[in-house]
Amino acid sequence: MKIAVGADHAGVGLKSEVIAGLKDAGHDVEDCGAYNTASIDYPDIALKVASRVLDDNALGIVICGTGTGIAIAANKIRGIRAAVCREEYSARLARMHNDANILALGARITGSGLAMDIVNAFLGASFEGGRHQNRLDKIKLIEDTDGGR
Ligand code: RB5
Repeated sequence: MKIAVGADHAGVGLKSEVIAGLKDAGHDVEDCGAYNTASIDYPDIALKVASRVLDDNALGIVICGTGTGIAIAANKIRGIRAAVCREEYSARLARMHNDANILALGARITGSGLAMDIVNAFLGASFEGGRHQNRLDKIKLIEDTDGGR
């Protein structure tokens, strides 16, 4: 499976380390930028990664300073379920229970060693379906109807 990785200027350094780790492990990685530390708006990167996730049936990893802004932006795109994770348990459960298709990391919070453990937990887990599918169906209904508002 392809893994699309993107970061704003705050996350560029961690992105390089994550991409190197993924490539070392033999993953098919697409670098969606940013490619330098010049200031760039995280919604632009969120949109690039989300497009790869939806168009190529990939998983995504997005990185900004905290992980918050880039996750909020990604979650505005229909079909995206982005989870900010700071430790492995949340990352594993984000896949198993929430079928998250994007992992969001905060480069100003999470060091590269822990970040790789979180990435590996995320990539190593699979959606369990069952009762969790009902909940995802309700999320999709909210998405499709704007919650009936
Ligand atoms: C950029 O300074 C910073 O606001 C951004 O990387 C992110 O943390 C936003 O949520």
